[in-house]
Amino acid sequence: MKSPIEVFSDWVDLGKDVGMEKNHFEPVLEMINLFKSKNEFTSIDAGCGNGWLVRYLSNYKKCKSIIGVDGSLKMIEKARSLDKNNKYFCYELSNWNPKLKVDVVFSMEVFYYFKKPEKLIKQIHDKWIKKNGKLIMGIDHYLENEECHGWKNKINISTMKLISKNEWIKYFEESGFSKVTDYQFCAKDNWKGTLVIEGTRV
Ligand SMILES: C[S@@+](CC[C@H](N)C(=O)[O-])C[C@H]1O[C@@H](n2cnc3c(N)ncnc32)[C@H](O)[C@@H]1O
Repeated sequence: MKSPIEVFSDWVDLGKDVGMEKNHFEPVLEMINLFKSKNEFTSIDAGCGNGWLVRYLSNYKKCKSIIGVDGSLKMIEKARSLDKNNKYFCYELSNWNPKLKVDVVFSMEVFYYFKKPEKLIKQIHDKWIKKNGKLIMGIDHYLENEECHGWKNKINISTMKLISKNEWIKYFEESGFSKVTDYQFCAKDNWKGTLVIEGTRV
C-alpha cells in the first residue's frame, strides 16, 4: 500500500489530477459561494493538488492573495508550471503554517487522508485563520455516503478514514470553531453529495 502523497504523485503522471478538477468543480463552487465576502480576502487551499482552485479563485476581484499547499512535489511542480502568479508550497500540511493568517481556508477531498484529522483542524484553527475567518472543508468519502465505501481498497492507499458527519462536526467544534454548519452539495440518487463543513474562528 502507498501513502496518500505517493498515490497522488502517481496520479499526476497518469493525468488523473485533471479528472479531480472536473469532478470537484461543482461542489467547490458551492463552497466558494458560502464565503460571500464584501471585502478583499486572503486564502489558502489546503491540499491544492494541481492548483486549479488557486488559479480559479485568484481571478476573483476581491481575492487579494491565495496560497496552495500540497505534500506531493509532482502536484506542486505542475501547479507552478501552470501558474507563475500565485504561490505554491510543497509541505506535509501538519508541518506547515503560513507566515500570515488568512480570511478563509478551503480544502477539498484531503482531510480524511490524515490519521488524526482532528489535529490538523485544530492547527488550522489556531495557526492559519484570522479572527472571524473561516475553514470550509469538502469531502466525498464519509460514512453516510455508502457509494464511497469501496474506494480505499480500490486505490490501495494506506490512510483513508471513513468518518461520520457528526464526528467531523465534533472535530470542528472541539477545535474551537463556532457557527459550525454542514451541507451536502450535489447529491443525486444514491450519491449523498459532497459533505461540506464550515466553521468560523471567533
Ligand atoms: C483527492 S486529492 C485533492 C486535490 C485537490 N484539492 C482537488 O480538489 O483537486 C488530495 C490531495 O491531498 C494531498 N495530500 C494528501 N495527504 C497530504 C498531506 N499529509 N499533506 C499534504 N498534502 C496531502 C495529495 O497530495 C493530493 O494532492
